[in-house]
Amino acid sequence: MGKSYPTVSEDYQKAVVKCKRQLRALIAYKNCAPLMLRLAWHSAGTFDVCSKTGGPFGTMRLKAEQAHSANNGIDIAIGLLEPIKELFPILSYADFYQLAGVVAVEVTGGPEVPFHPGRQDKNEPPVEGRLPDATKGSDHLRDVFIKQMGLSDKDIVALSGGHTLGRCHKERSGFEGPWTSNPLIFDNSYFKELLSGEKEGLLQLPSDKALLSDSIFHPLVEKYAADEDAFFADYAEAHLKLSELGFADA
Ligand code: HEM
Repeated sequence: MGKSYPTVSEDYQKAVVKCKRQLRALIAYKNCAPLMLRLAWHSAGTFDVCSKTGGPFGTMRLKAEQAHSANNGIDIAIGLLEPIKELFPILSYADFYQLAGVVAVEVTGGPEVPFHPGRQDKNEPPVEGRLPDATKGSDHLRDVFIKQMGLSDKDIVALSGGHTLGRCHKERSGFEGPWTSNPLIFDNSYFKELLSGEKEGLLQLPSDKALLSDSIFHPLVEKYAADEDAFFADYAEAHLKLSELGFADA
């Protein structure tokens, strides 16, 4: 099932390259890779495979979507990005937010996730309530990632490794603390910490712990903790799929 991507103009391709440089600089200067990855994921993760609504189509630029309770704090990412977006009016917000997510992973030492331009902006935000609830377990994760988004068990575990970056903020989600002791480095430490149990100063959400108690998820956690290359390969594949939900389908 190969995807057939739209053709974009030479000017558009050049803007992507230049914009990528600006994003690298912003993310390095502001140490905001975690928030940029969360923005890209929350933009894409609303996709519903049945109704073909939601997904990475730039609707996070709209205040209505930023106001969804799962998106607390996302407006900070949008504010940081807006001055760069103004330099590249040719780019869609849809491509721009996904590019920010790809760059966030790359500049923190993670795998290179391929990026294909050509997403078009939509004007309708998705209904609220499609992003996963951190207080729930594996049935809920499968409802969201597999039934709603059309991803797989392996994608759930690999993408959860995105919590190698960043932290929870009490005033945004009600939770507090990072998952690892190096929250600005993209590596497989999320899985190592998950297996080593609760630790002073670090946090595991109920939805993270669900990966340990599920017989399909657990072996993948073990695999990624032991083999960072395997994690990077599966993560890059899953992130690519996430960033292209509803885009360029045959
Ligand atoms: C599996 C279901 C998931 C749940 C329930 C979940 C839940 C959460 C929660 C509650 C926060 C804290 C927000 C805050 O207080 O600032 C958070 C942060 C974050 N999430 Fe997730 N998440 C999930 C999946 C993902 C995925 C798939 C990615 C990316 C691939 C991701 C990337 C991040 C990042 C990078 C942060 C840190 C943001 C920051 O430091 O400002 N999450 N997540």
